[in-house]
Amino acid sequence: MKRKVITTSDGSKTIQIEDWNEQYHSVHGAIQEANHVFLKHGLLFYFQEIFKKTENLKGQESVSILEIGFGTGLNAFLTLLEAEQLNLHIDYVGVEAFPVKQEEINQLNYVSLISKAHKSQFDLLHQSTWESQHKISKYFQLEKQKIDFNQITASNQFNIIYFDAFGARVQPELWTESIFEIMYKALRSNGVLVTYSAKGSVRRAMESVGFTVERLPGPPGKREMLRAQKN
Ligand SMILES: C[S@@+](CC[C@H](N)C(=O)[O-])C[C@H]1O[C@@H](n2cnc3c(N)ncnc32)[C@H](O)[C@@H]1O
Repeated sequence: MKRKVITTSDGSKTIQIEDWNEQYHSVHGAIQEANHVFLKHGLLFYFQEIFKKTENLKGQESVSILEIGFGTGLNAFLTLLEAEQLNLHIDYVGVEAFPVKQEEINQLNYVSLISKAHKSQFDLLHQSTWESQHKISKYFQLEKQKIDFNQITASNQFNIIYFDAFGARVQPELWTESIFEIMYKALRSNGVLVTYSAKGSVRRAMESVGFTVERLPGPPGKREMLRAQKN
């Protein structure tokens, strides 16, 4: 399929799949969206409301994150930087069946917009080999898995899921009960799943597999998003 790198409204780049008219991130701002949906309502919510109040008191020292769609590595890069801010060890698993090519990565501007001092870590996110664990920074360990989302077999492993698949308009099969069953199983109790989607059918699919779901204000350009919790 034809792809090109485009600039979104906050100045950050993303990849567009022209045949689908679908982007890897919101055209209203790739970095803004990632910070709002995955960092603010995912990692920071979990850290402040669940980790510090319960899990850390029970002895948990690190946070594990599963990313559905590693793509450009933007969510991983922002999470690596936040781990440093929070002094929090993060084990990050990024699942991606169709890795982005290096020539596209080279056209992205995340390092120059977010942190030039972390260029080598951003490069490592992409250069590290698949199916093995790599320490990318003091606080951030990464394993990339080149598999289909349907092949995820993790059970009670993750505290947070960043659910960042392409939209239901173009990949409806990824927003179904059977996929959310896999996600529910992969999460530990008290774990949260965040996604940019706010569709009613997505919410119902999540609820039918056991999640408690809330609607939250969306990032710029989008009214709402969803956060699901495994109680
Ligand atoms: C919206 S993009 C992810 C954006 C990414 N989180 C980022 O920060 O760049 C969705 C990703 O899911 C991947 N993908 C699509 N279908 C998949 C499948 N069935 N299994 C695994 N990966 C898939 C795509 O290749 C794409 O990289």
